[in-house]
Amino acid sequence: MSDAPNFLSVAQLAAWKRDGFLVLENFAHAATCARLRTRAAEWTDRLKAEQDQAVFTTHDQAKTSNAYFLESGDKIRIFMEEHGPRVPNKLGHALHDLDPVFAEFSRQPALAAIARDIGLRTPHLMQSMYIFKHPRQGGEVAAHQDSAFLYTEPLSVVGFWFAMQAATIDNACLWAVPGGHHAPLRRRFHRDGQGGTTFEQRDPRPLPTEGYIPLEVPEGSLILLHGQLPHKSEANRSAHPREAYTLHIVEGEAVYPADNWLQRRPDFPATGFS
Ligand code: FE2
Repeated sequence: MSDAPNFLSVAQLAAWKRDGFLVLENFAHAATCARLRTRAAEWTDRLKAEQDQAVFTTHDQAKTSNAYFLESGDKIRIFMEEHGPRVPNKLGHALHDLDPVFAEFSRQPALAAIARDIGLRTPHLMQSMYIFKHPRQGGEVAAHQDSAFLYTEPLSVVGFWFAMQAATIDNACLWAVPGGHHAPLRRRFHRDGQGGTTFEQRDPRPLPTEGYIPLEVPEGSLILLHGQLPHKSEANRSAHPREAYTLHIVEGEAVYPADNWLQRRPDFPATGFS
């Protein structure tokens, strides 16, 4: 077997290792993006209508919303913006297994080839999200490392971020620190054993506050994000949405702790590309 990359060029692989991210412009066709956007809108309508019919008591709301989040690892659920009018923030976290359109997109051979190129031996498709960044309402995502949320031993998560629409500084594109993935994981988010979650500080150094560069990309672009790369996005103050689909892949041979926030039913485990 040859060691030559399958999909990425040698230069792209070198950039990935150096920067901790890699931009592949126009990875998906416009028609594909349109199909995924429509699909996400259909799920939103359906899940919003379901929520409207559910009777929520204000009493114990924190507990209910914690459970709604913690049980979403193997489901498709909707999460609203925390502030302002009731608009969706995202869908998550198993679109790639439960929706046939997202499943086909997520398991396309090109992604398997990229995963192999960047060193995943037994990739497991652990999490998917459809992020809305609604015009004028999509909230800020503070600087973080994805390994904090999808922790494995050793660390392995890679984010596959697909621009469903052009992402610019104006409509709150991703910002990342080139090379920031060479520093350790700062903290880990996990279940606290009492129905909630907690952050555990693992390294006292704060995440960088400077050195972020904007990753502006056209619709259909794919951005690969190393699990230790500090990245963030601003609130969307523009009149344009900034929708994105993300897929988080972990190394199946690594240990996936039982107190990670995202868990799947034993009879419905995360699987690979085929
Ligand atoms: Fe992230």
